[in-house]
Amino acid sequence: MKKTFALLLAAVMMLALLSACGGDKPADTTPPADTSAPADTGSDAAPEEPAAGGNIGVCIYKFDDAFMTTYRNALQEILEGKGYQVTVVDGNNDQAKQNEQINTFITQGVDALIINPVMTSAADTIIATVKSAGIPTVLINREPTADQMAAYDKLVYVGCNAAQSGTMQGELILDTPNKGDINGDGKVSYIMIQGDPENIDAQLRTEYSVKALTDAGIEVEQLNLTRGDWDREKGQTICANDLAQFGDKIEVVFCNNDDMAIGALQAIQAANRTVNEDIYLVGVDALDAALNEVQAGNMTGTVLNDANGQAAGAVAEMEKLLGGATYASGEQSVYVDYVKVTPDNVGDFMK
Ligand code: GAL
Repeated sequence: MKKTFALLLAAVMMLALLSACGGDKPADTTPPADTSAPADTGSDAAPEEPAAGGNIGVCIYKFDDAFMTTYRNALQEILEGKGYQVTVVDGNNDQAKQNEQINTFITQGVDALIINPVMTSAADTIIATVKSAGIPTVLINREPTADQMAAYDKLVYVGCNAAQSGTMQGELILDTPNKGDINGDGKVSYIMIQGDPENIDAQLRTEYSVKALTDAGIEVEQLNLTRGDWDREKGQTICANDLAQFGDKIEVVFCNNDDMAIGALQAIQAANRTVNEDIYLVGVDALDAALNEVQAGNMTGTVLNDANGQAAGAVAEMEKLLGGATYASGEQSVYVDYVKVTPDNVGDFMK
């Protein structure tokens, strides 16, 4: 009898110990996605791999952005495919609104955040907020400075090196038969349709596209530089105004992204100009619409801004953070390469 009691006691203690260990498990190891999974039917099928799990908050600067729409869809698909519960919110291009969204995610106890800041200048506030809540965070698309990121070691940026895309745009012009000097006057006269100038992508593409020409010893003349905020309609209006003002003087239309280039193309066609004959047009992103125009000869070229690669990279870095990784200052930017897209290789990028 005594022996039975002792055995029982030991069994109870073992159970208590086991459940205590279980209680130490971080909450995020239980995949919320599994709550909807059918109950185990007791069949002898092999048990499924446990899903990665966890609640992930994704903040996008605004949904109404062509490139970021492709990007956020890729991000959501990858995360959900891995069993995460994902909530994606639209910042409506309003930093105050995005700050609230970040705070709400923190209150809800998300396991990690992926943030596409509305304004790069708000990076300090964003980083201080996620740091004080201890939330592992991946910043995407709008790169803060290395110094800003150094404030928090559970923070990493995944994106591209914007200077590279600018250089490639310049090379697309250098690769044309007359290196952009259509009228043969010894200089390349261009207009620059810029994205949101607060954004480093806009700054560096503007600078490096032209630098590629001047580095190659080509004289350039900037006829106009106007901000188009990454927006197709603005690209169209700006280009129409510039064509009305400068006419045949314009040899090259540099657009910081494809959506503005598609808008510019509408203006170019309305002005009866012909791309690759009497004017050149380049963008960045490799949106489907732009790939079609490159193939049709209506855009000189574009540069692949690899949404899928960046989304995959962002998730990979997020998982490293969830696994306990920290990042040393100066090593908090992870870059995905841009790729030049011309009529010769455009087929490789079309679905
Ligand atoms: C750029 C992209 C633009 C726009 C912008 C938003 O990388 O080329 O089309 O999406 O990001 O920050």
